[in-house]
Amino acid sequence: MKRHCKPPAPASMQTAITRLFGIQLPLLCPGMSYIATPELVAAVSNAGGLGILATGPLSANATRAAIRRIRELTDKPFGIGCTLMMPGAADNAKAALEEQVPVINYSLGKGDWIAEAAHRYGGKVLATVVTEKHAKSAEKCGADALLVTGHEAAAHGGSVTSLVLIPAIRRASSLPIVAAGGFADGAGLMAAMALGADAVAMGSRLAMTRDSPVHASTKDMVLQRGVGDTLYSKNFDGLWCRMMDTPAARRACRKPLGLIPAAFRASQMARRMGMPVMKVAIGGMLSQPQALRQLALFGAATESIRLAIQEGDHEKGVQLIGQAQGLIDDLPSVAELFARIMSEAQACRDRIASF
Ligand SMILES: Cc1cc2nc3c(=O)[nH]c(=O)nc-3n(C[C@H](O)[C@H](O)[C@H](O)COP(=O)(O)O)c2cc1C
Repeated sequence: MKRHCKPPAPASMQTAITRLFGIQLPLLCPGMSYIATPELVAAVSNAGGLGILATGPLSANATRAAIRRIRELTDKPFGIGCTLMMPGAADNAKAALEEQVPVINYSLGKGDWIAEAAHRYGGKVLATVVTEKHAKSAEKCGADALLVTGHEAAAHGGSVTSLVLIPAIRRASSLPIVAAGGFADGAGLMAAMALGADAVAMGSRLAMTRDSPVHASTKDMVLQRGVGDTLYSKNFDGLWCRMMDTPAARRACRKPLGLIPAAFRASQMARRMGMPVMKVAIGGMLSQPQALRQLALFGAATESIRLAIQEGDHEKGVQLIGQAQGLIDDLPSVAELFARIMSEAQACRDRIASF
């Protein structure tokens, strides 16, 4: 067993982030395709944190339906995530703005238009960044807070670890910071606060709760893995990306995808998402081969991610996961996890105060 600690815990910890978003605890669930569904988002928001809906695999209509479902499950603030480089992401962001979602989290793109529209109804904007340059540009674009993703993170963490990246961005920007990448317990929360953050977002940890829809056999695999059992490669979806070290992941990372298979997979993905195939595959190939290749890599990766999460298939599927997987050894509910994290955080403060 890796570690155990018991609840109960304080019901509230107020920071610049909790005040900005109107929540009780400085704990967020980041967007995770096929995992940050309305049910998990609502469980996080109902437990006092902020759940962020993943919209990567959703059309604008599905995004709208998911937002309405969240509102049936909770009356607390929540967010939606838009990876602006993904096809359909701008339409999903527009749907969220029309629905007046309290927090819009954007990444991999310019979010000035999102900030302008969200601020008109009192919405808040959280920009995901991995460098000081991104942080300054997000501030200029009108973001209200930064989600800073370090190297330890599942999926697209930056090249610099959270330990160094958070203080570097703290110096570069005065915006409140949500730290992500490697945070899974109360000690992590306190460490992030000490480095200058105002909250943490936990992907790997919240994916490993009873409220998360991850397939049971995939959850079992994560429980067996240590902190070193991940791969970090640019060949999986075209961006530096962290995933569980499995034979399928090693095969997927062996070499980058060529342009012809990329065009084929782009058209498959466009069809799945209800987008005009010729426009995406052929038009993209002629006008923007690089953008098409990136789109195709995302498309191919999205199906591998779905197989691992929804079907527990690790022959073809690839599981995104962070180094924090090695800190996870149980499957609590979100509410139990948050209670435990807050009591661990208090124990951590007491320990440090005793030095
Ligand atoms: C299973 C899983 C799936 C994820 N899916 C996505 C995704 O679809 N898009 C994305 O930008 N980030 C995704 N992430 C990354 C999270 O948004 C977040 O940045 C990351 O989990 C933070 O690091 P941590 O895992 O150490 O907490 C995913 C993370 C996990 C664990």
